[in-house]
Amino acid sequence: MFACPVAERTELRLLEERHADELALLVDRNREHLRAWLPWVDGSRTPADARIFIAGAMRRWGQNNGFTAGIWHEGEMAGTIGLHAIDWSSRASSIGYWIGSDFQGKGIATAACRAVLDHAFGALGLNRVEIRCAPANRRSRAVPERLGFTKEGTLRQVQLLYDRYTDLVVYAMLADEWIGREMGA
Ligand SMILES: CC(C)(COP(=O)(O)OP(=O)(O)OC[C@H]1O[C@@H](n2cnc3c(N)ncnc32)[C@H](O)[C@@H]1OP(=O)(O)O)[C@@H](O)C(=O)NCCC(=O)NCCS
Repeated sequence: MFACPVAERTELRLLEERHADELALLVDRNREHLRAWLPWVDGSRTPADARIFIAGAMRRWGQNNGFTAGIWHEGEMAGTIGLHAIDWSSRASSIGYWIGSDFQGKGIATAACRAVLDHAFGALGLNRVEIRCAPANRRSRAVPERLGFTKEGTLRQVQLLYDRYTDLVVYAMLADEWIGREMGA
C-alpha cells in the first residue's frame, strides 16, 4: 500500500496483515530490549497476536483515528511508529515508536518521527503532538529532544509496566512551532 521514504534507506509503510509474520519475528528477537519500556510485549507472542494488532491498527486508520506504520530499513522491517488515537476536539495526539536493537544508533526513529510529525501537522491539521517516555529511557527521550520538543513535566506512576507503575516524561510539539521550525530551517 503506501510507502513513505523518510531517509535515504528508510521508509514507512502502513502495516497490513501480510506483515504479521515479519512483525512477530522482530518482536520475538527483541523481547527483552522492548520489554524494558513497553507494556504490550508479553501479550504479543505469536503471528496471530501480530495479526490482531495489525487489524486494530488498520481499523483506526479507516476511522481516521491514528495509524501504525512499519519502519523498513534497507528492505528489512526495523520497527514500528504510530500516531495514537486522535482527540479531534482538541486536534491532539501522541506518537509511539520502537526499533529492534540492531537498528539503533542510525537516526531511524528520529527520521520516522519527523515524517509522522510532518503528516500530523500537515495533512491531518493537528495542533499538538506528544511523546511520552520513561525518565530512565535515555534513547527514547533523545528523540523528542533532538526534534526540538518542549519537556512539559512528569506524569507520576501513569503506566503499569508488568509488575510496577512507571512515571512518564511528557514532551510536546505544537503546530506553529513545527511549521515555523521547518520554514526557518
Ligand atoms: C527509543 C528508540 C526507538 C531509540 O532508538 P535510537 O536508535 O537511539 O534513535 P534513532 O533511531 O533516532 O537514532 C539516534 C542515534 O543514531 C545516531 N544517528 C546517526 N545518524 C543520525 C541521523 N541522521 N539523525 C539522528 N541521529 C543519528 C544518533 O547520534 C543517535 O545515536 P546515540 O544515541 O549513540 O547518540 C530505541 O532505543 C527503542 O526502540 N527502544 C526500545 C523501545 C522504546 O523504548 N520505545 C520508546 C518508548 S517511549
